[in-house]
Formats: sequence, structure tokens, C-alpha cells
Amino acid sequence: MNKPKYGVFSNIFFITKGILRIDRILLLSLIALIFAMVVQPIIIIYMPKFIIQYFEENRPVKDILLLIFYFGIVSLIVGQIRSFADGYFPRKKSHFRSMKLGAEMSLASLHVNYKYLSSQQGQLEIRKARHAMSRPTTGVEDMVVRIVECSANLIGAIIYVIILSSLDPLIIIGLIGCGIISFIAGNRVNKFRQKNKDTISKIQKKHYYVIDTTKDIKYAKDIRMYGMFDFLVNLGQKYINSEISWEKKISSRVFISSIVDGIIAFLRDGFAYIYLVFLVIQGSLPVSEFILYIGSIAGLSMWISNFANNTIILAADSLEVSDYRVFMDKAEESLNSKLPDKTVDVPVSIELQDVSFAYDDHIIFDKFNLKIEKGKKVALVGINGAGKSTLIKLILNLLEPDNGQILLNGIDSKEIDINKYLEQFSVAFQDALILAYGIDVNISMKSSEETDQNKVDDVIKLAGLQEKVNSLEKGKYTSVEKYLDSSGTELSGGERQKLILARALYKNAPILILDEPSSALDPIAEAQLYEKYHDMTKDKTSIYISHRLSSTKFCDEVLLLDNGNIIERGTHEELMQLNGKYAHMFEVQSHYYNEKN
Ligand SMILES: Nc1ncnc2c1ncn2[C@@H]1O[C@H](COP(=O)(O)OP(=O)(O)O)[C@@H](O)[C@H]1O
Ligand SMILES: [Mg+2]
Repeated sequence: MNKPKYGVFSNIFFITKGILRIDRILLLSLIALIFAMVVQPIIIIYMPKFIIQYFEENRPVKDILLLIFYFGIVSLIVGQIRSFADGYFPRKKSHFRSMKLGAEMSLASLHVNYKYLSSQQGQLEIRKARHAMSRPTTGVEDMVVRIVECSANLIGAIIYVIILSSLDPLIIIGLIGCGIISFIAGNRVNKFRQKNKDTISKIQKKHYYVIDTTKDIKYAKDIRMYGMFDFLVNLGQKYINSEISWEKKISSRVFISSIVDGIIAFLRDGFAYIYLVFLVIQGSLPVSEFILYIGSIAGLSMWISNFANNTIILAADSLEVSDYRVFMDKAEESLNSKLPDKTVDVPVSIELQDVSFAYDDHIIFDKFNLKIEKGKKVALVGINGAGKSTLIKLILNLLEPDNGQILLNGIDSKEIDINKYLEQFSVAFQDALILAYGIDVNISMKSSEETDQNKVDDVIKLAGLQEKVNSLEKGKYTSVEKYLDSSGTELSGGERQKLILARALYKNAPILILDEPSSALDPIAEAQLYEKYHDMTKDKTSIYISHRLSSTKFCDEVLLLDNGNIIERGTHEELMQLNGKYAHMFEVQSHYYNEKN
């Protein structure tokens, strides 16, 4: 297991700075809590000490009553400070985690580099970062608690050491030594936990996947049809068992460390008490001092042992806070890398120069070159997994090439502001996001109020969705899916594709990219789509990906992608004459679809 990027002190500083930045009163309540935690027990041991001392000194009753009164006042003030902290602190620390840092992390997830996000490392890192933010008992929020606890423990311990300093220094050294032994015992557990964190995290990921799969309505049909219940339940159980076995390994180590802790506490307190009683019997220690020292030793032991326990937990939390910061750094890097400001004129040409790209070790493109001229309509074809969608993501700058350049009108994509860059493209993705809101919202991807409803009406017609919309009581304002609105509608696969197409058309950007927009359409809808294709792509550069090779006839050019290279390029007729791979694919398809060219 590699060392965390950010150490404990750096993380304490990070959390404190975060609190100061976001909620100064929370920082105040934190300090108030530390103050009250330290002072309250001290009042409790000093009060009997002074009362007994007054008796020993034969002071008048009036003095004793006055003393009690003063202690009462101080207790009351400290008690009030504590009430304020106890009221404010618990509520606001969860606010700090979920509403503040959690919200910042959600925002960062939207900005972080897409290649990183879709890589295995990115997925693991975002999950670990989320873990740090997801619960009050670990990570960021718990770290806030531990900072308070550890500070109170440490300050409390120092004060008791000062009170006890008039005793034999050996006593203090012994007490501190015992604390160190407990700490070492506990720290071994923490090391073990840290060493296996990634392994446990991977098991949890698999477990969550099974849980999500069983809950997701998308999978419910297949689960029933294929009788997958036992398979999924057993899989879930397997992961639970594996998690439990790790929990057991950890808790048996915790158990051993707490036994060590207990034995040490027993010996430590035993010796200290015997020593003090001996001093009183000898007559060298007044009873009032005895009371003070007994209280202080008990207090010091408690602070030291709490400090040991809390620092162990603090260190564990700190690992998670480090995970959170590692992810946020990645987001920051992505944000900061968007400096360029060049703009692009319409129409747009697209060029890839010596582009290399791999998913982890899986090389998809190696020195790939391609130019699509301004205003040209090209069809991109190739078997499943040829890299068509990857090529689109590279062109869109969602994936960053490992080498090489992508140019729009000859301008390197890196020199164009990313938002301006993305404005150039209307894209219909295969796996596009569909929101559980109105059809109009799903088309404009803005709130209903901000949507140009006339434009929505136009693209609904163009995409062939008019009939469906007419059949709905609330028309285009009907929610897609019933998830948030019981009067919503469920769309068929083909209707979803039309919706995604309408969305791409609504955006009306200079470059139109359709990634398999017709795969779920019936032949009539598909034929209608081709007919409209020219209207849709007027003045635009466009890339059309489809398995249905007949679609290529509507395009100026066909590109056949195979094994990371364009192996054939030309009009449909040219490629048919070439009688190569494309012609062969087309003939096989024509045979099945009974199409004649
Ligand atoms: N996020 C990813 N991580 C790893 N491999 C991927 C990822 N996305 C796609 N691939 C792989 O890259 C290859 C090309 O995929 P893709 O571009 O989707 O092909 P196409 O769109 O031509 O069907 C496939 O082998 C696929 O398994
Ligand atoms: Mg694809």
C-alpha cells in the first residue's frame, strides 16, 4: 500500500481551513467545545480539593460558602459555553461535510477530465473520495470530531502533567510511557486497516454493484426472465461474507489491542494509587493534595488513553481525507487546464493528426490520421468495438489523446476554450442521459422556462416524435419515466432514440454527430430519418455512425474503420466498386435485409 499523498497534519490544516472558510461559528463552537471539555473535569477535581483545604486551614464557614459560590458561577459559565457548542457543533459538522465539501465534490465530478473519470483508477479514486464524504462516522466529518477530541485530550493531558509536576517525575514518565504503549498497540490495528483498505474497497464496490443491479428497474425484466435471483443473492452473500471476514480480522486485532490497553491501565493506576496512599500515610501529603493528585492521575490516564485512541481514528480518517483531496486535485487540474481562448468559425473542418489513444493498456488508436472537410457529411462504419464511439469522444475532447492533435479548422483543440469547443457539437450518444423530467426539458437540457418552446416543437417534428407527443395528455410537458412523476410516460427504445436525436437538433451546433441513432428505429422511422437527414445537416459538418449500411448512401463519403485505421474511404458507389471489405459487409447485410442497392 502506498503512502497517502497528504499526511495527518496537512489534513488537520485542510479541515480547519475549510471550516474557517465556510463557517466561522463552527470553528468557534469547536474551540468552545475543546475549552469546556478541558475545564469541566478540572473544576470537578479542584472544588473538593479547596473545600477540604479550607477545612484543614480552619477557615470560617463564610469563606467556604463563598468558595462554593465562586465555583458555582464558573461552572455555570463553562456549562453555558458547552451547551452552545453541544447544540451547534453536531448539526453543523454534518452540514460542513455534506452540504459544503460534498457539494464541492459533486461540482468537481462534473468538471473532472472524462478520460480520468472513465479509467479504472479514476473510478477507484472517486469512490474512495465519496466514501470520505458519505458518512458521519468516517472521513471528513469524523475527522472534525477527532480534531476536537485530540486537542482536548492533549491540552487536558498537558494541564494535568503541570498539576502533577510537583510529584516525583518518575510518576509522570511512567504515566506517559503507558500511554505510548497503548498507542503502539492500537496503531498496529490501524496499519493493518490501512494496508488492506484498497482490497476492502474493491469488495465493497462489487457488493454495491450487486445491490444496485437488484434495485434498478432497468434490470428487473432480465432478472425475472432468466431466473437470476439465486445467482444474484449468492453473489451478494459471497461479498458480504468476504466483508465480514475482513471485519473479523480487524476486530480481532482491535480486541487484542484493547486487552493490552486494559492491562496497562490496571497496572498504571494501581501503582499510582499505592504511591499516593503511601505519601499520605507518611504524612508528607495533605488530604486536600491527595484528592487533587488522585483526580489528576485519573484524569491524565483518561486523557492519554483517549488521546491514543482518538489519534488512531484520526489517522484513519486522515487517509480518507487524503483520498478526497487527491480527487479534488484532479478536478482542479482539469479546471485549470482550460485556459485557451481561440474561437472557431463556421463551417468547421475536423482533423486528427497522429492521434494515439489507449484505455489503460488496451490500445485503440496508434498514430491515427483523418480529415473531414468543412460541411461534409461522412458515414463512419465498422464492426462493434472498432473504436467508433471512442473516436467521437476523442473528437469531442471528452477523452484526451495520449499523443497527437485534434484540430478544428486547423486550430489545435487545446487552444480552444473547452466550453466554446463543446458548443461546436450537437451529439446524439448511444447511451445518452435521459432525465425524469418533461420531454421539452430532455430536448433543451434546460429548465422549461429557459426552453425555446417553438424550437422544441420544430425538432419534435423533425425527429419523428410528433405522433407520440400528440398521444400524451400533457404533450411535450409529460415527464419521461414515472420515477418522479406518476403521470409520466415510459418511452420505447425507438422513441428514446428520437428524443435524443431531437435534443441534438435543438442544440443546432455547426457539427452534428449521430452515434447509431437508428439502431432501435423501425424501418419506416429509419427511412423517414434518412429523408430528413439532408434538412438536418444543412450547412453542417456531420458524422453519422450506423450499422445499417444503407444509411451511408445519404452521405458524401463513407469511412470504414477497422483495427484503429480507416481502411477504406470513398462514396458508397466507389467502395462498392472497390469490392473490398465494405462491399462485402454491404452484400451480407443486403442479403439479410433483402435490400438491393
Ligand atoms: N471506458 C472504457 N474503458 C476501457 N475500454 C473501453 C472503454 N470504452 C470502450 N472500450 C473498448 O474500446 C474498444 C472500442 O470501443 P468503442 O469505441 O465503443 O467501439 P464502437 O463504438 O466502434 O463499437 C472496445 O474494445 C471497447 O471494449
Ligand atoms: Mg459505439
